[in-house]
Amino acid sequence: MEIQLWREILIPYELAVKELVLNFEHIIIESRSKGIYSPIEQVEGRVKKISSILDKVQKKKIPMDQFEERLEDIAGIRITCQFAEDIEKVVHLIRERNDLEVKSEKNYIDTPKSSGYRSYHMIVYYTVNTLNGPKRLQVEIQIRTMAMDFWATVEHSLQYKYKGNIPEHLNQRLLNAADAVVALDKEMSTVRNEIMDAQNSFQIKANVVATILTNIQNLYKVANKREVVKIQDEFYRVYEEGGLDQLIHFSVQLDHIAEGYRAQETN
Ligand code: GTP
Ligand code: MG
Repeated sequence: MEIQLWREILIPYELAVKELVLNFEHIIIESRSKGIYSPIEQVEGRVKKISSILDKVQKKKIPMDQFEERLEDIAGIRITCQFAEDIEKVVHLIRERNDLEVKSEKNYIDTPKSSGYRSYHMIVYYTVNTLNGPKRLQVEIQIRTMAMDFWATVEHSLQYKYKGNIPEHLNQRLLNAADAVVALDKEMSTVRNEIMDAQNSFQIKANVVATILTNIQNLYKVANKREVVKIQDEFYRVYEEGGLDQLIHFSVQLDHIAEGYRAQETN
């Protein structure tokens, strides 16, 4: 196959990766705007390099006309979560989506690889629209905690450096580190609720403040300037002295005031 043709074949995969990264990022955005905790911390994606595709095709003795079916990871998405519990949530989200059809799942968290690798893998079908119409292709989604991801990144670099033959003493270190990752994720899980609460209230506060400021800005257009300045000073006072509850209370009051002006306007 010519190089040019390779590029063409990979273009729908590039689209799939872009669309899916955007879709998963929107789960983070949606959660934030609702002030709820997002099970997804970060999303990244890549299309396999032509050289890596060739390597794998040769290694697995895959006939050239079958590589798109047989290589399940031409398009790859990686989702990282803060806590191990989040992984299950993300898996459910993926199973429930109607733009994805799950082909297979591998749970390397309950059953880690002998290397110490831990991650949850899903192969899904996803359809993109191309110039030649819809194309259904396979995407590999890896879901793991940030700690598992750290381990996998380091191990992968070592595999690369030693061309797959990591010296025994390093292997043992990696297995120790993998145990430490399990311990870290467990330890983090015990404080998950507290961290979630802290992150939630941070996000809620940010949302409430944004709403208040928008309302004050809009009031400037319709209300008496002195009154708006008074409201603004009151906001600064509440912001400085009050907690989240007072801010929410202030925001609700401001809503009523703004509503009053809107009612006047439409009369
Ligand atoms: P592939 O031939 O790589 O597709 O293996 P497979 O078909 O058995 O799939 P598997 O789900 O085991 O692995 C797919 C991907 O997971 C790999 O391409 C890597 O990105 C990742 N992975 C699997 N095992 C390891 C490992 O031991 N270390 C690291 N760092 N990554 C791994
Ligand atoms: Mg694979």
